[in-house]
Amino acid sequence: MSSLDATPGAARRPGVPGGTVRIFDTTLRDGEQAPGAGLTAAEKLEVARQLMRLKVDVIEAGFPAASPGDFEAVQRIARETKGGIAVAALARCRDGDPQRAVEAIRVAERPHLHVFIATSDIHLKHKLKMDREGALAEAVRWVRYGREALGTDAEIEFSAEDASRTDLDYLLRVYEAVVDAGASTVNIPDTVGYAIPSEFGSLVGRVVDLVGRDATISVHCHNDLGLATANTLAAVQAGARQVEVTINGLGERAGNASLEEVVMALRTRPTQFPDLASHVQTEQITAASRLVSYLTGFAVQPNKSIVGANAFAHESGIHQDGMLKNPLTYEIMTPQSVGLSGSQLTIGKLSGRRGLQGKLKELGHEVEGEALDQLYREAIALADAKKEVTDADLLALVEQRTSQVPESVTLEGWSVTSSHGGQATGTVRLLAAGEERSTESTGNGPVNALFTAVDRAIEPVLGWHAVLTEYEIKAVSGGEDAQGQVLVRCRRSTDQGPGALVVSGHGLSTNIIEASLEAYLVAVNKLHGAQIETVQGAFVAPSASEKLP
Ligand code: KIV
Ligand code: ZN
Repeated sequence: MSSLDATPGAARRPGVPGGTVRIFDTTLRDGEQAPGAGLTAAEKLEVARQLMRLKVDVIEAGFPAASPGDFEAVQRIARETKGGIAVAALARCRDGDPQRAVEAIRVAERPHLHVFIATSDIHLKHKLKMDREGALAEAVRWVRYGREALGTDAEIEFSAEDASRTDLDYLLRVYEAVVDAGASTVNIPDTVGYAIPSEFGSLVGRVVDLVGRDATISVHCHNDLGLATANTLAAVQAGARQVEVTINGLGERAGNASLEEVVMALRTRPTQFPDLASHVQTEQITAASRLVSYLTGFAVQPNKSIVGANAFAHESGIHQDGMLKNPLTYEIMTPQSVGLSGSQLTIGKLSGRRGLQGKLKELGHEVEGEALDQLYREAIALADAKKEVTDADLLALVEQRTSQVPESVTLEGWSVTSSHGGQATGTVRLLAAGEERSTESTGNGPVNALFTAVDRAIEPVLGWHAVLTEYEIKAVSGGEDAQGQVLVRCRRSTDQGPGALVVSGHGLSTNIIEASLEAYLVAVNKLHGAQIETVQGAFVAPSASEKLP
């Protein structure tokens, strides 16, 4: 046994039972609040499906009062989520919010209402303009409402926003009162990432001692000082039995505690968390991380724990030598345990459909039927176009499928000429809402020329053109023949200001101009779809969520 594993003391507080640590994923709520990470309802549903495969315990699907779009997304997720996974909705302790949240999650197999109000003097004075007793009364009122509206079996969670900067005696009084009013979970948010692990553990211990027999104690840690995971783990050792986390640590400002870090710490260091486990299928972590990164456009830094590209890469000779002799020398978890397949070479022209299905399963994706046939055709076509089809190529093909949208603008053909020092000229032929259009434009490069040509083609038909706000390109794998993956963000020319609807589009091809056009067309079609739904009254900007802590 190593010196660390033999060290007692940091383990569980005496008197606090073992069991499971409930994993409450808030990627679709706090994660989506990260500036620029807005997702459409369909994209949120894709992420929720992956969270189901990951087997988290609770999916916090959104903040229904923020917008009709968020309401719809939460309700769709609530309807679809099964298998004992709860669906949570957030609400302020303010008339209107909890009612909207209850309406959205009522249909869930396991509804979980999450109401919150700030309790620190700084927030009370400057933000809510309320005194302590007023906040306490609102907290009790809306917890009681939730319990009455959803019944005895539902989970009613109360969060004291900015708990770690709240006067301790007052905070304890609030927690006691909400548990009396029917809260079954009390959450201790370190809203601004201010806490240090030892003091956060002590705070959690006080709450556990007070109400831990009647309610589940939860924690929600932000990463402003880079301590979110450490604080979360200290809280578990102090008796917290729910942790609020996000995939890739996405979230407001510096983000939230990352699901993959917390879950893998619990799994890798069992002596520090005796008799405690999570239900998470860790082999689904890599797929979840990639999907969230892909859909939000938030790249994962290469040295990010667990899910960074270098997390299992061994560069130096000494390390490589050790790994060859025995992987235990430098690896505390296996790549396979987080869903990274050991092999990198996957599909060739002679590979079969079953082989592809097995490989995708190893990579965390269960694909069958028509979807498998289509992926198979794409993978074989790719094997024709490049020497080696790698895991990363396959994952990129799977991800590209998640960006498919109903098409009212379809590309029929394009050409471009471009030379050193000169302007580029691009021509596109497309069908816009059934109308054949062919246009030409110049630009400062081939992509710019083609995007402008698309704009000229669609404007007379749709009444707007797309305005590009972001463009990113990356190679999916190494090698000169690598596929290029393009991300664009666009808005409509007629939609301006801070509340403007901004959508993303992805494209994938060994030809980067083709990939760029594909991404642009996905964005144009999303914008057009949004326009139609707005007219019908159902669609709301994906990033329109009201800003929360
Ligand atoms: O950070 C925070 O305090 C929150 C609460 C709403 C739980 O996100
Ligand atoms: Zn938060």
